[in-house]
Amino acid sequence: MASRSIFVTWPIEAEARAILERVGNVRTSHTEHELPVAELAQLVADCEAIIPMGAHQIPDAVLAAAPHLRIVAVAAVGYNIVDVAAASRRGILVTNTPGVLTETTADMAWALMLGVARRVPESDRFVRAGKWTGVYWSQLMGADVHGATLGIVGLGRIGQAIARRAQGFGMRVLYHNRKRDPEAERSLGAEYRPKAELLREADFVVLSVPLSRESRHLIGAAELALMKPTAFLVNVARGPVVDETALVEALRSGRLAGAGLDVFEEEPKLHPGLLGLENLALTPHIGSASRATRLQMASRAAENCVAALEGRRPPNLVNPEAWRSA
Ligand code: GLV
Repeated sequence: MASRSIFVTWPIEAEARAILERVGNVRTSHTEHELPVAELAQLVADCEAIIPMGAHQIPDAVLAAAPHLRIVAVAAVGYNIVDVAAASRRGILVTNTPGVLTETTADMAWALMLGVARRVPESDRFVRAGKWTGVYWSQLMGADVHGATLGIVGLGRIGQAIARRAQGFGMRVLYHNRKRDPEAERSLGAEYRPKAELLREADFVVLSVPLSRESRHLIGAAELALMKPTAFLVNVARGPVVDETALVEALRSGRLAGAGLDVFEEEPKLHPGLLGLENLALTPHIGSASRATRLQMASRAAENCVAALEGRRPPNLVNPEAWRSA
């Protein structure tokens, strides 16, 4: 039983590791950085489970290299790092960790909203650079968040948690989803809008949709052109949901007041145009990175992994078609 090999791409938290050690031998990566596909393929060749923690891509080449692989237990809610179609074809289960990171990611969306609207990163740079020479009336004036109109694109778990916080700020909340959600409309007082209308009306547009073929470049030049020039865009979803080149142009030309970005099109590379702009709050994909939440994510991934290795259906299976064929 304990001879099963489980590969984790980071020296996982002790509590989560202990969960895994109930069913197998845990091997961890020597580095937290993304491993080249060929190296990862070699490391997992004898494994029944892989737990990617962070940005490791799991393409078909990695799945194919591990003939005994039964599960890829992603320690994140977004599982776009895995070639899920290939995993399903091979009967390999894929799981994620929804729920446990909802509130922490919603906090991050708010940190970015408040940060960019009240120019916190810019003010920090200003003070550190020794440019502060007095308290002037017009110094670093920002925009109010309270009382403004918030437009949430993607009212799933995280979108709803963002909306709940907006009640305390006295905001009007609009949302756009593929499907209307009457229950959320009732409980959150959120009003549904077609995408174009939401973009026209909102003072803050927050993106919290999963990355898919349909959501890639959901916000491009045409969408940015609909937004108010006083509005802000916040992305805590996935970088490719926004056409970064169009965003840079909109920010540079004053088409848009500012942006708060936790995710980028080609992480960890930044679009060079972003670096020269002041009206931004940038964070390096740390939406769920509180200590408590990261521990819960690791433990949840471990529990999914253990379930699969014990022949039980994992609680957070994202490809049920693989379960039928497993
Ligand atoms: C983080 O980006 C996640 O998807 O959990």
